[in-house]
Amino acid sequence: MTPPGDKSITHRALLLGLIAQGATEIRGANSGEDCTSTARCAAALGGRLEALPEGWRVTPAPLHASHAPLDCGNSGTTLRLLAGVVAARPFRSVLTGDASLCRRPVDRIIAPLRMMGATLSAREHDRLPPLEIEGARPRAIRYDIPVASAQVASCILLAALEAEGETSITLPGPARDHTERMLRAAGVALEEQPLAGGGRRVTLNGPARLPGGTFQVPGDFSAAAFFIAAAAARRGARLEVEALGLNPTRTRLLDVLERMGARIERRAHTGPGGEPIGTLVVEGPERLCAADVPPDWLPGMIDEVPAWVVAAAAADGVSRLAGAGELRHKESDRLKALARGLAALGIEALERSDGLEIRGGHARGGRIESQGDHRIAMAFAVLGGGAGGPVEIDDASSIATSYPGFLDTLAALGGEIGGEEGDVRT
Ligand code: S3P
Repeated sequence: MTPPGDKSITHRALLLGLIAQGATEIRGANSGEDCTSTARCAAALGGRLEALPEGWRVTPAPLHASHAPLDCGNSGTTLRLLAGVVAARPFRSVLTGDASLCRRPVDRIIAPLRMMGATLSAREHDRLPPLEIEGARPRAIRYDIPVASAQVASCILLAALEAEGETSITLPGPARDHTERMLRAAGVALEEQPLAGGGRRVTLNGPARLPGGTFQVPGDFSAAAFFIAAAAARRGARLEVEALGLNPTRTRLLDVLERMGARIERRAHTGPGGEPIGTLVVEGPERLCAADVPPDWLPGMIDEVPAWVVAAAAADGVSRLAGAGELRHKESDRLKALARGLAALGIEALERSDGLEIRGGHARGGRIESQGDHRIAMAFAVLGGGAGGPVEIDDASSIATSYPGFLDTLAALGGEIGGEEGDVRT
């Protein structure tokens, strides 16, 4: 299979294109609704965007205030990264989104952006969107980010591009580093220093001008992860994934699957944007064994926990995940949604305050409430392919936020799919 373009990198390419001095061409972009939200917001701010067959061309134009609120849809990355862009510009913006996004925290970006000089306010004591921002020329800051969030780091770095002097941030643990790689590839003076515990210090010397250019977006590891886990969970299966992004800050799921007994071969090289890209081959072993996720591995698979559940549900024994409270702040409360979904299919699952305990077994058919969360819908659709009876997903329309071709790929890999009006049965 060839996965869709990486969602995280597509968001960043659109926003870097929006503020670049020259034209930017984004190839192999993710065409899901989340990235379309970023493109729509960029256009509302004055960006000139032209859709290409597999991406966008962004032509520089002066940015201005949007006359309507910037609608980030379901996309936390759009809201948090865009906040960094508009906070550094002298106009007022309101960032909002759907009901799920309006339940996700923004206090984590308000604090550093205030230090940089912007005026911000949000609903419920500055905790939840809509987020109102009065932008200003930013000051360089030193800031220790309390959560290891790539969205928060990227938000600050995007604002810091406009600030005079050295902005220095620390991340307390590992988090994806696409923004740093892309900025460095664009010639920005940016230094990274590893810290104990897997975190890092990032120092950016501003102001920095981006030249524009071409981004070739690698395949989305988080999208392919569902099929990778399904192959690991199926004896005798063999799956080859091509043009896959293999950035080591994203691929911890592979290490866990190997621990469980899956055979995995990675052939990666570094692509033009500084991102590792390559082919991956996964083979399902004779017997998949349960394995715990080491807590320090979790950040490297933060979006792949729903995919890990596909493997844990089929493994012999009990698999445990801990230190994962952050999953309650994603597109849904993922710990709850996963535990409930597993129970609906007859798999023993314990929901802990910050994790899950799953006893693998034979999933039966059942009905899943996806909570409007694309990754919950995809995990259970793939799980349905190996279940004893049909698995029905109440609303699969959310899958389009990140992976519009998901059901076609599932069918091509052997899934039988039925259902109507957004419901899906596998
Ligand atoms: C993302 C970072 C992660 C991840 C999200 C995408 C990004 O969130 O869960 O889906 O593109 O920077 P956090 O930064 O909040 O951990």
